[in-house]
Amino acid sequence: MRLREKYVPKAVYNVTPIFVAESEKALIKDVDGNEYIDFATGISCLNVGHRNPEVLKAVSEQMERYLHLCFHVTPYEPYVELAEKLAKLAPGSFDNKVMLVNSGAEAVENAVKVARRYTGRPTIMTFEYAFHGRTRLAMSLTGSVHPYKYGFGPLDFAVHRTPYAYCYRCSFGLKYPACNMRCVEYIRDTLAVHLSPDDVAAIIVEPIQGEGGFIVPPKEFILGLRTICDENGILLIADEIQSGMGRTGKMFAVEHFNVVPEMVTVAKSLGGGLPIAATIGRREIMDSVQVGGLGGTFGGNPLSCVAALKAVDTVQQLLKNARKLGENLAGRIKEMHEKYEIIGDARGIGLMAGVELVADRKTKKPAKEERNQALDECLKNGLIIIGAGPYKNVIRFLPPLNINEDLLSKGLDIFENAIKAVSAR
Ligand SMILES: Cc1ncc(COP(=O)(O)O)c(C=O)c1O
Repeated sequence: MRLREKYVPKAVYNVTPIFVAESEKALIKDVDGNEYIDFATGISCLNVGHRNPEVLKAVSEQMERYLHLCFHVTPYEPYVELAEKLAKLAPGSFDNKVMLVNSGAEAVENAVKVARRYTGRPTIMTFEYAFHGRTRLAMSLTGSVHPYKYGFGPLDFAVHRTPYAYCYRCSFGLKYPACNMRCVEYIRDTLAVHLSPDDVAAIIVEPIQGEGGFIVPPKEFILGLRTICDENGILLIADEIQSGMGRTGKMFAVEHFNVVPEMVTVAKSLGGGLPIAATIGRREIMDSVQVGGLGGTFGGNPLSCVAALKAVDTVQQLLKNARKLGENLAGRIKEMHEKYEIIGDARGIGLMAGVELVADRKTKKPAKEERNQALDECLKNGLIIIGAGPYKNVIRFLPPLNINEDLLSKGLDIFENAIKAVSAR
């Protein structure tokens, strides 16, 4: 840690002080020999578990063949195989094409580039509390200024932000369903009065917000966005970087809303632990870009492609398990919500769930200190779990989709004891 502090900038944050020695399935061992249950999975990158044997086998076999080639110089099969798989897997029954990149931010950047090129329109509509990454454009689409955007301007100016359906803290002070989806009508109003639809290329939305606090909007919200896009020739981009790859018990979270977007971004768990991301879009949209207009040296690295091919297959087999374990998880956090005043809200779908801690259920004052204490308490007792939310008062559950029931339950016991401890303080 002393050397880390000397050579790595403090901005490149750590949420735990442990250094890892090895990991397996849902467990991490640190260099001091301590064992932890992992409910963070490297921020949702290990839906298939740590060191999934299928992924390891594919990667080690690929290492015997070739490592880097650059798809633009000498194409190779795993890139195309993965593109085909994702094109067919994307929501809806459209002909899709797929571009592979290295990170979520890059997938978002490319989705926006393509949307602007296809529509000839500049503006991207995004949401309060959204998180889309840390490169300039992705950061511009991201909601919270601290810490993501502070001091990093100028940002992309053709970005328009509007309230998300965060019903627990409605931006309009209304209550669902009596609100009649004011947040959707507000966008309609914006497009009638303040912003010409002719200037809007796309609406980018996380079907369930991740960094924003694991916010699950009502079905009518995502459906409403689809309708508005249809009415105005605007593309709908679903950012599934955190919510996709089976996390919610379906391959993509947007499927829970019966909505088909024109474009989807995927990353994180796509590589089963290796870095890879994808921008998926309808054929005519993706093909609107001039030859050479999209690319990158490492995009769709062969090792990452073969890992992703296995990870996608494995996730497909784990969807049922994710739904079953998701019910256990939902049951436990609902129980805790009833038992502990400090839990103001418990929400989620499948294994994408979170709790929001408040100092007072009436005022909903965020319990940030207590949240941090709860995370520390979990770590002390062998559970790695991380926070989220613009008010730093949410705790999110991101276990592997193949965690065994006992370990999930043991992790939840550690979590409940931490909540009990901070409630008593
Ligand atoms: C919804 C969403 N979009 C984009 C990103 C950015 O991904 P990356 O960190 O791989 O650039 C994240 C990362 O947390 C995310 O959750």
